[in-house]
Amino acid sequence: MLEMNNDLVKKINELKAMRKAVILVHNYQLGEVQDIADFVGDSLELSRKAAKTDAEVIVFCGVHFMAETASILCPDKKVLLPDLNAGCPMANMITAPALIEKKKEYPAATVVCYVNSSAEVKAESDICCTSANAVEVVNSLDSNEILFVPDQYLGHFVSTRTSKRIIFWPGYCPTHARITPEDIQRAKALYPRAIVMVHPECRPDTIAAADEVLSTGGMVAYIHGTSAKEIIVGTEIGFIYRLRKENPHISYIPVTEQAICPRMKLITLEKVLCSLEEMAPEVKVPEQVRLRALGAVNKMLAIGRK
Ligand code: 13P
Ligand code: SF4
Repeated sequence: MLEMNNDLVKKINELKAMRKAVILVHNYQLGEVQDIADFVGDSLELSRKAAKTDAEVIVFCGVHFMAETASILCPDKKVLLPDLNAGCPMANMITAPALIEKKKEYPAATVVCYVNSSAEVKAESDICCTSANAVEVVNSLDSNEILFVPDQYLGHFVSTRTSKRIIFWPGYCPTHARITPEDIQRAKALYPRAIVMVHPECRPDTIAAADEVLSTGGMVAYIHGTSAKEIIVGTEIGFIYRLRKENPHISYIPVTEQAICPRMKLITLEKVLCSLEEMAPEVKVPEQVRLRALGAVNKMLAIGRK
C-alpha cells in the first residue's frame, strides 16, 4: 500500500511539474491527499492562495464550491476538481431563484453569503464570507439588516457577536449538525482538563458547550499558541490528521467519530493523478455568472486587507 502510494505520489509530482499545476487541499481531505499539497488550509486561505497563484492549473482537493471560487477568481486558469461528485450538501440547500424570491421579502437587507454556496447564489449576493471572517464581514457592513445564507447555525453564531438584525436561511451542514452537547459532555468527562474547540457550523447548543469557536484555520493558529496538552476537536475528523502532523505533542480527541464529511473523502490520490493526466474534470463558472459573483468574493477578500 505504502509502495503503491509512493508510486502515485511520484507520478503526481512529475505531472504537476509538467502541467505547471498547484495542488490546493482543504483541511478535511484524506491524510494522503494533504501530504501531496502545495498548500493545506481553510476555505478563506485557499481562496487567497487561488487568487495569488501563478500556476496555470489549480487542482482543487476539496468540494465543488471551493473549485468554483477558484474559477471565479482565476478565469484564465484551468481548475480541476478530481471528483465532480464532491459537492457540499449545505451549498445545495439554496438556489439562486429561491434567494431572489427571499430578497423580495427583505428589500432593505444586505445579502451575506457563506462561501459554501454555488456561484449562481454568490452572483445574487452582496458579499461573501467564510467561517473565518463571518463576524468581521457582517460588522463591516453599513446595513443593519442582514440576510445571511445558507448556514443558519453560522448565522446564529454571527448574531451573538453583532448588534445587526440577522435573517436566517434554513441551511446547515449535516456533518457539523451531528455534533451534540452530549458528545461534548461525554468527551469532557473522559478528559476534564481538555480545551473544547468547535466549528461555527455547529448547532447553537453545541457552541454554548464549547470553550472556543473557530474556523479550521483559526484552530490551527490557536493550537500553535496554546499550552494545552489535550484538545477535544468539534469539527470534521479528517482535520485531526493535520493537527497531529503539525503539533504531535498534543492529544487530539474527536468529539464524535460521526463527524465525517463523505463528500470531502471522495478525492483520492488515484483521482488526483487521473485529473492531471486527463486535465479533467474541469470546473468553469460561465462568464456572465462569474462577473456577478466576483464582486461578492472580492469584497470579502478586500476586508482582510484593510
Ligand atoms: P472552513 O474551511 O472555513 O473552516 O470551513 C469548513 C467547511 O465546512 C468547509 O466546507
Ligand atoms: Fe459542506 Fe459540511 Fe462537508 Fe463542509 S463539512 S463541505 S459544510 S457538508
